[in-house]
Amino acid sequence: MKALRTSLINILRKTYYLGKTIQLSKYEKFSQNEREILFSKILKYFVLNRPLNGNYFEFGCHSGRTFREALKNFGSKSWFNSENDTKFYAFDSFEGLPDVEENKEKIIWGKGKFKTDIEEFRKILNKSGYKNENYELIKGFYHNTLNDNLKIKLSKEGHASLIYVDCDLYYSTVPVLNFIKDFIVDGTLIVFDDWFCFNGRADKGQQKAFYEFQENNPQFKFVPYISNSEVQVFIINK
Ligand SMILES: C[S@@+](CC[C@H](N)C(=O)[O-])C[C@H]1O[C@@H](n2cnc3c(N)ncnc32)[C@H](O)[C@@H]1O
Repeated sequence: MKALRTSLINILRKTYYLGKTIQLSKYEKFSQNEREILFSKILKYFVLNRPLNGNYFEFGCHSGRTFREALKNFGSKSWFNSENDTKFYAFDSFEGLPDVEENKEKIIWGKGKFKTDIEEFRKILNKSGYKNENYELIKGFYHNTLNDNLKIKLSKEGHASLIYVDCDLYYSTVPVLNFIKDFIVDGTLIVFDDWFCFNGRADKGQQKAFYEFQENNPQFKFVPYISNSEVQVFIINK
């Protein structure tokens, strides 16, 4: 009787985990699909509005899924940048999320969540055919790294055509928006990857940081461009 009960429990457990695995792989396929469509739409924008001739900035890079998609779409001299080689900047702690109250609000977050260390990140990119010289990593938490010295250094390399913000938290998005201010030109695209976290609320997370930034920087107009199950993209006019 006891043996029968144990094997029944084992079967139920296996079915549960199998169900979860199928769900997860479906979700990942869907996410990758959406990511590819998103970048195709962004590419179309740059074809229509060429030449914008700026660089790619990504804040929150984890295992490089979006970063690789950007390299794939905008890596060679193209409509995205016909004058120069595009610079690809990956800004991340490479230690995962910071230790702040806000990241305790969601079960999938927490200190150190989404950590991919720098060697691992390079390995992943290398496997996809991207060499170290194809991109630049800026390692560290934003409140330390996003300073005036870095701003002066990167300004010499040009403005931003596409800014991808995927760092989840209000705490992290505030310094990002203040940093990128001077890299924006008329037509720059900005993607908020975590727009609908916190139940889509305007008073939390990325949306909170965005609306505060918008109020304090009336020189920028944000034109809603693309929206999907995760992201909100704006064209910036100035
Ligand atoms: C959800 S992951 C990004 C996913 C990534 N775009 C991808 O395609 O795999 C969030 C990332 O933001 C980074 N991050 C969040 N807040 C940060 C901060 N204040 N300073 C530096 N990195 C931060 C984390 O280290 C993590 O890699």
